[in-house]
Amino acid sequence: MTTTAAPAWAPVFPLDTTINAAGHLQIGGCDAVELAERFGTPVYVYDEQTLREQCRAFLREFRARQPEAQVVYASKAGIFRALAKLVAEEGLGFDVVSGGELEILLAAGVNPSTLVFHGNNKSEAELRLAVERGVGRIVVDNFHELALLNDIANDGEKVAVSLRVSPSIDPHTHAKTTTGILDSKFGFPIETGAAADAVELAMAAPNLDLRGIHVHLGSPIFELEPYELASDVVIAFARQMEDRFGFELKEYTAGGGMAISYLEDALAPPIADYAERVVSSLRAACEKHGFPVPTLTIEPGRSIVGRAGVALYTAGARKAIPGVRTYVSVDGGMADNIRPAIYGSQYTALLANKPAEAATETVTIAGKYCESGDILIKDIALPPIDPGDIVAIPASGAYCVAMSSNYNAAYRPPIVFVSGGQAQLVRRRETVDDLMRADVDA
Ligand code: LLP
Repeated sequence: MTTTAAPAWAPVFPLDTTINAAGHLQIGGCDAVELAERFGTPVYVYDEQTLREQCRAFLREFRARQPEAQVVYASKAGIFRALAKLVAEEGLGFDVVSGGELEILLAAGVNPSTLVFHGNNKSEAELRLAVERGVGRIVVDNFHELALLNDIANDGEKVAVSLRVSPSIDPHTHAKTTTGILDSKFGFPIETGAAADAVELAMAAPNLDLRGIHVHLGSPIFELEPYELASDVVIAFARQMEDRFGFELKEYTAGGGMAISYLEDALAPPIADYAERVVSSLRAACEKHGFPVPTLTIEPGRSIVGRAGVALYTAGARKAIPGVRTYVSVDGGMADNIRPAIYGSQYTALLANKPAEAATETVTIAGKYCESGDILIKDIALPPIDPGDIVAIPASGAYCVAMSSNYNAAYRPPIVFVSGGQAQLVRRRETVDDLMRADVDA
């Protein structure tokens, strides 16, 4: 029987998720239990429809409010060629933070003019590569980079840059992923006067063309107000820079950080709400300070790919400690999803082979790696779990595979795209050869 009423877990899973006639979880028209059998576990399944719809929703909502707005996907949330191609097809550009991300996108055939290059310590080699390949914008983060880039750009055309400023705004997210406050390694602080010095220097730099100001406050940001504050602070700063140096703000980047729903009782605001707050506050601030509205760019990462991805694991060992806790271990863990271990991130789960069964026990889903901190979900209510059951963890599309490691010589998991009942392997599981490929003394 196919269920039609949307279950409570629906907003946390990909758009095309249902329970099929076999009583199994079905994603993108594919039976999740069959996917687990066919590709093995752990496996990361991405629903193509959700990926595309997230790209489209960002373009739609921002362009409805500012037709020239640009959306660049923050590839640090996860990048591999199939995803690069899909995101480029949907008309987004990309934010990259390393030569590696840049090389993957170039290999995928992405137009370099759609790339934005970030990072607080880009190397000379990375900057050279970016300039040579014609990366669209380099976001200069600090004085060292300003001088280095001006030198590198010496012989050619002026390089288009924007400056990353730090606006002293707290977006109230995890300390490890907060960037907008004064005490941050990223960007030129406005508060200390460093940002003003950077504008003066960049305008005077013969080989740089200063076009805009960039902020990124942190991630994930469940509140809308920090984006509004950022518009106010940056536009007031731009007004001062015009008065002092004749600086003309052509571009404003409001960063990424838009939240996604990890838990059914902690839903993220819709994209339209972010778009409305960012664009209306930008417009209001420009009106207040009397200059034209600059072209807006936003850099969503998590909110493009997060909801599309579901991690599938197979349950194995169980350890019940009476009166304390019951651990159920799965065949993955912190090597493929380190987020619970380092940020205390919370996830929910369903059993893909019996998603509609009543939850009758509380268990802790443990990973298989050799650390006590390797816990994926602490104390979740689930139907009775037996070895062989398939544990599906939603909202796993962002920063899981991207931050995955070979800890304990784990093989990184495969990635499968699903759509209309078809499953396509886009990245295979690593093998022992992958683990040893970089060894030089074999
Ligand atoms: N733009 C800049 C300059 C960024 O530094 C970031 C993320 C983004 C955009 C995209 O943010 P998003 O839309 O994905 O929230 N590993 C952490 C997240 C680190 C985010 C780093 N910068 C996590 O797993 O939660």
